[in-house]
Amino acid sequence: MIELEGVTKVYPDGTEAVDDIDLSISEGELCVLLGPSGCGKTTTMKMINRLIPISEGRIFIDGTDNQELDENELRRDIGYAIQEIGLFPHMTVAENIATVPHLKCWDKGEARERAAELLDLIGMDPEEHMEKYPAELSGGQRQRVGVARSLGADPPIMLMDEPFGAIDPITRDRLQDEFLKIQAEIQKTIVFVTHDINEAIKMGTKVALMKDGKLVQYSSPAELLSQPKNQFVRNFVGTDRTLKSMRLIQAKDAMKPCPISVHRDSDVEHVRERMKEEEVEYLMVTDKDNQFIGWIEIWDLETNEVDSISEVLREDVGSVSPETPLSDALSVMLEEDVANIPVLQEGGELEGILTFNDLQKVIGETYTEKGGGSGISS
Ligand SMILES: Nc1ncnc2c1ncn2[C@@H]1O[C@H](COP(=O)(O)OP(=O)(O)OP(=O)(O)O)[C@@H](O)[C@H]1O
Ligand SMILES: [Mg+2]
Repeated sequence: MIELEGVTKVYPDGTEAVDDIDLSISEGELCVLLGPSGCGKTTTMKMINRLIPISEGRIFIDGTDNQELDENELRRDIGYAIQEIGLFPHMTVAENIATVPHLKCWDKGEARERAAELLDLIGMDPEEHMEKYPAELSGGQRQRVGVARSLGADPPIMLMDEPFGAIDPITRDRLQDEFLKIQAEIQKTIVFVTHDINEAIKMGTKVALMKDGKLVQYSSPAELLSQPKNQFVRNFVGTDRTLKSMRLIQAKDAMKPCPISVHRDSDVEHVRERMKEEEVEYLMVTDKDNQFIGWIEIWDLETNEVDSISEVLREDVGSVSPETPLSDALSVMLEEDVANIPVLQEGGELEGILTFNDLQKVIGETYTEKGGGSGISS
């Protein structure tokens, strides 16, 4: 756990970079320091492992004042991926990764093996890159090596300063996903700096939004979007915050589970009755083992001489998985021009149904801010 108490930094030239910040980061949390350029993110981060001396206030790491901790120990126990990458130009990729103090004590073979493992983890082929020098890598690759190096000693705490900043949006998205997967397993306590709101809400369990050295709002990404504290936060998160918050909610959290469905071999008359009884205009159709195969609509049954469900079955319809973000589910609805989509498990089994009303309802619930609703809640 990391705790900042009244932390202030005034640089020798008089620049007030950080002003009286209180921040408490729990174990296993990924806390994003977010804010415009020059607001004091890097300075705040570097005071945690004492790369920059604190002017006022205290920082506790697992309850101990970091001023009382041995500087070398502090750096060893806290992984650090810096904004300017900071690879040693005269060392190969493998050697750079193995400079982590912890790995230095390992025998050479072991350290190399760990370096290869870490390269693999960040999506770079070890065979191809181990022996290269930083100058022979692209900016994004250099940055990934920096991330690999910070993971090297398997530290309980990691400080990451814009670790994916120099990487193209597609690779970046992939690396973010991979990193989140890794984090779900390793559960490090991470302080992650970015000035990108989308990266912040995707990566963070908590977001600390800063402005001019001050902490403006510290909350979960969902709360930051739904309950911005003031106009600065509102502007910073952007006018599309409704759409952004839809990225944070998954289909399974908004769907109706176990929707009414009929088997493809059901008797048509019976299905008609059932739809009237349930007062529904459409029904999901399944095959054996609850496999979704399509849906039927009531007017198809009413207006046609229909002998079997298969005759009016609408196949090839869009679906989403339980983990699909609501923003993507909405895209599917708009593309398919439907107001309901089936939610299917990986094997195609029908898990639930998501309707446009469900989307509206969830988004409406998210927006409890007084007078600042999303405008789409009903
Ligand atoms: N060594 C220094 N001496 C004097 N002022 C500094 C020093 N380092 C940073 N600053 C100033 O402190 C403020 C905060 O800088 P910091 O690097 O923490 O910002 P940041 O939020 O990380 O910005 P960016 O997103 O651009 O990296 C800025 O006004 C910067 O100019
Ligand atoms: Mg910075």
